[in-house]
Amino acid sequence: MSSHNCRSCRTGTHREGFASTGRAAQTGLVVVLAMVLTAGAAFAGSGEKKVATSVCDAHRLKEMKALDPHLEIEIPAEFDKKFPTASACNSHELAQDVEAPGPMQPIPFSHKHHAGDFEIDCQYCHSNTDESRTAGMPSVEVCMGCHGQFPKEYDELEGIQTLKEHWEKKEPLVWKQIHRLPEHAKFRHNRHIKAGLECQRCHGPVETIEKLSLVPDTEYWQYGLPTHKLEMGWCIQCHRENNQQASQDCLLCHY
Ligand code: HEC
Ligand code: HEC
Ligand code: HEC
Ligand code: HEC
Ligand code: HEC
Repeated sequence: MSSHNCRSCRTGTHREGFASTGRAAQTGLVVVLAMVLTAGAAFAGSGEKKVATSVCDAHRLKEMKALDPHLEIEIPAEFDKKFPTASACNSHELAQDVEAPGPMQPIPFSHKHHAGDFEIDCQYCHSNTDESRTAGMPSVEVCMGCHGQFPKEYDELEGIQTLKEHWEKKEPLVWKQIHRLPEHAKFRHNRHIKAGLECQRCHGPVETIEKLSLVPDTEYWQYGLPTHKLEMGWCIQCHRENNQQASQDCLLCHY
C-alpha cells in the first residue's frame, strides 16, 4: 500500500486495497464491492475482532459483516451513527485517491456525489457560466448554504472540517486549476452556453467523476471529440460543424 500519506489514514477511514483502484474511481460502486469482498476474504476465519474507529469505519465494517457473517466486529456506540452516510464516506475517500489522476484539492470534493447522486445543477455552483467570461468557482458561502444545515456528525469528514475552518476564518478556498488556456487565446463561456451547448459536450461526464482531472489528449468519448484537450483544432472543428463563419478568423480567438 503506497498511499500512507492520504488524509483518510489519519482519520482512520482508509481502506486496505483501495490505493490500487486508480482510475477506476469512476466505477466507485464496483470498486467498493470488490474491496469489501477482498477485505472480507482476508479477514474470514482470522478470528480477530475488528473495532470501528470512526462512523465511516463502522459503515465499512458493517458492509464487510453483511458479506461475511463470521466476521467479528465491534461498533462502539459513539460510532454507531447514520451520518455521515456510507456513500458520503466512500466519495470522500475516492475524491482523495492519491493514485487517481488529477490534482489533490484543498477539500476532497466529489462531482459524482454532488452533481450525480444528488443532481445539484452545475450552474448552482458554477453560477457565472451563462453571463461572464469565466465559469467561476463556488464560494465557501455557497458550500455552507447546504453544509451549515447538516448534522454535526459530518464533521468527522476532514473535508467538512476544512470547509468550516475556512468559513470561520472568512478565508476563501483556493482550488487547483485544471483547465487553462494559454494567455494568447480567449474563450468565453457565456456565448457557448447561450448557444445551447451542454457543459458535458466540452468537459465530459463530470457528474460521474469522483476526482476531476485533465483527461489525456487521446481520450475520446461519445461525441468523438477529444474532451479535455483544449487545443485550437478542437475549437475550430466544432465551430465548423456549427457553421461559424468566423471560425477561422484568428482574431476571434487570439488577442
Ligand atoms: C446544494 C447542496 C450542497 C452544496 C451547495 C454543497 N454540498 Fe457538499 N454535500 C451535499 C450533500 C447532499 C452531500 C452528501 C451527503 C450524504 O451523502 O450523506 C454532500 C457531501 C459533501 C462531502 C462529502 C463527500 C465528498 O464529496 O467528499 C464534502 C467533502 C462536501 N460535500 C463538500 C462540499 C464543498 C466543499 C462544497 C462547496 C464547493 C459543497 N460541498 C457544496 C450537498 C451540498
Ligand atoms: C456543489 C458544487 C458543485 C457542483 C454542483 C458542480 N461543481 Fe464543478 N467544481 C466544484 C468545485 C468545488 C470544483 C473544484 C474542485 C474540483 O476540481 O473538484 C469544481 C471544478 C470543476 C471543473 C474544473 C475547473 C478547472 O479548474 O478547470 C469543471 C470543468 C467543473 N467543475 C464542471 C462542472 C460540471 C460540468 C458540473 C455539472 C455536471 C459541475 N461542475 C457541478 C463545485 C461544483
Ligand atoms: C464549448 C466548450 C465548453 C462548454 C460548453 C463549457 N466549457 Fe467550461 N471550459 C471550457 C474551456 C475551453 C475552459 C478553459 C478556459 C480558460 O482557460 O480560459 C473551461 C473552463 C471551465 C472551468 C474552470 C474555471 C474557468 O472559468 O476557467 C469551469 C469551472 C468550467 N469550465 C465549468 C463549466 C460548466 C459548469 C459548464 C456548463 C454550464 C461549462 N464549463 C461549459 C470549455 C467549455
Ligand atoms: C462543442 C462546440 C464548440 C467548441 C468545442 C468550441 N466552441 Fe466556440 N463557439 C461555438 C458556438 C456554437 C459558437 C457561437 C455562439 C453564438 O453564435 O453566439 C461559438 C463562439 C465562439 C466565439 C465567439 C463568441 C464569443 O464568445 O466571443 C469564440 C471567441 C469562441 N467560440 C472561442 C472558442 C475557443 C477558443 C474554443 C476552444 C478552446 C471554442 N470556442 C470551442 C461552439 C464551440
Ligand atoms: C476557434 C478559436 C481559434 C481560432 C479561430 C484560431 N485559434 Fe489559434 N489557438 C486557439 C487556441 C485555443 C490555442 C491554444 C491551444 C493550442 O495551442 O492548440 C491556439 C494556439 C495558437 C498558436 C500557438 C500554437 C502553439 O503550439 O503554441 C498559434 C501560433 C495560433 N493559435 C495561430 C492562429 C492563427 C494564425 C489563426 C488564424 C488562421 C488562429 N490561430 C485561429 C484557438 C483558435
